[in-house]
Amino acid sequence: MLWDHSASRQQTDLVSRLLRLPNEPCVHYPEQTVHAALMDSLCPFMDALERFYRAWSEDESAVRQPPKHLFQRTGVRGDWRVMPCAIDRVWPAADGADAGIDAVKVIGTNEEERVVADKISVGKALLLHPTDHFVEAIFDVAALSSFRTAAISVLAYKYCGHRRDHGAGIVGAGRVGFYTAVILREWLGIEHLVVHDLDERRGEDFLAALAGWYGGRVRIATLDFVRRDSQALFLATTSQQPLIDGRLDQHMPFIASVGADADNLSELDADVLDGRMLVSESQQNIAFGDLKRWHEAGLIRPADLIMLPHLLAAAARGTPVTTPAVFISTGAAVQDALVCRFLHDRLGGRGGLPLVTAPHRG
Ligand SMILES: NC(=O)c1ccc[n+]([C@@H]2O[C@H](COP(=O)([O-])OP(=O)(O)OC[C@H]3O[C@@H](n4cnc5c(N)ncnc54)[C@H](O)[C@@H]3O)[C@@H](O)[C@H]2O)c1
Repeated sequence: MLWDHSASRQQTDLVSRLLRLPNEPCVHYPEQTVHAALMDSLCPFMDALERFYRAWSEDESAVRQPPKHLFQRTGVRGDWRVMPCAIDRVWPAADGADAGIDAVKVIGTNEEERVVADKISVGKALLLHPTDHFVEAIFDVAALSSFRTAAISVLAYKYCGHRRDHGAGIVGAGRVGFYTAVILREWLGIEHLVVHDLDERRGEDFLAALAGWYGGRVRIATLDFVRRDSQALFLATTSQQPLIDGRLDQHMPFIASVGADADNLSELDADVLDGRMLVSESQQNIAFGDLKRWHEAGLIRPADLIMLPHLLAAAARGTPVTTPAVFISTGAAVQDALVCRFLHDRLGGRGGLPLVTAPHRG
């Protein structure tokens, strides 16, 4: 018998009772909400991130982070990635309560830009409810990914001989560059910045956007000047060629490169490794960008990557690292998960657009 579309209300209720399909409460945090909340709670987030990495160095079993899965289609530029992460213990909570985090990000590189213009990271991150595992929050990913990438490179800098008096250089005046500049200022108290970008107009916008944080103490310069002047250099570009090589940059104690997170991108020549330790926050980073090229050419082995949590552990033991370092990140799911949980807790579900409200439990 075919479904009778004119079935009575009573019949519909009977079917509903049989199927049991209550709503699952869920909120959506769009880009602007994510950005504003991270700006509002920048230092609390950085402190929490630092606490988490310190705790992680003492208990490596707390995080399960399978390799990100990357998908490409012939004839379509770019790719999309699935990045899951389960964290059993997050940050030691004062009240001892710690439900962990389960999250997954689905992110595209949007190279075709047929629908969404000028946005490198598109997609959503999903935060699952800690016990019932429904999706309790959905986040747009561009601000989230850019911020957490900047955050991890500044955390690495703090544990690789950070010096406040010398200021820093940023190459790539885009989203990641912006968040890097703001975190350096607010969290580490860095007072001077020199910035280089291929796109002059972008450089001017960057200066204007950062005036509230740096006043006149940020300026645009040539790449050569930034390389000569900086004691710490943060690269966050979409460059397809190495911008930095070891010969010219021997004096520089700290270089962070986070832009080359795909195989067509590159920021560093392998000779930057001469005399520098290679630091990363995940062994999985070796599957992408410059690290992948060096690995395939036999220049580095996975064991050469010093994991960031070990630097925090060394500092906690009173033996901070003083060797010059190059920090490379191509993106780890654990930081996405941390940002999702932090924001959802911080905003208490408010500030997000309700996608679905809580079910009525009669
Ligand atoms: N490691 C990670 O986890 C992670 C996360 C987010 C983004 N990324 C990558 O970081 C890069 C930057 O992302 P974004 O969102 O800030 O991009 P964006 O477009 O906002 O900024 C990139 C900037 O780099 C500049 N640039 C490009 N080539 C340059 C060169 N040769 N010299 C100087 N400047 C140059 C561009 O003009 C642009 O202003 C991208 O490659 C992105 O894929 C990595």
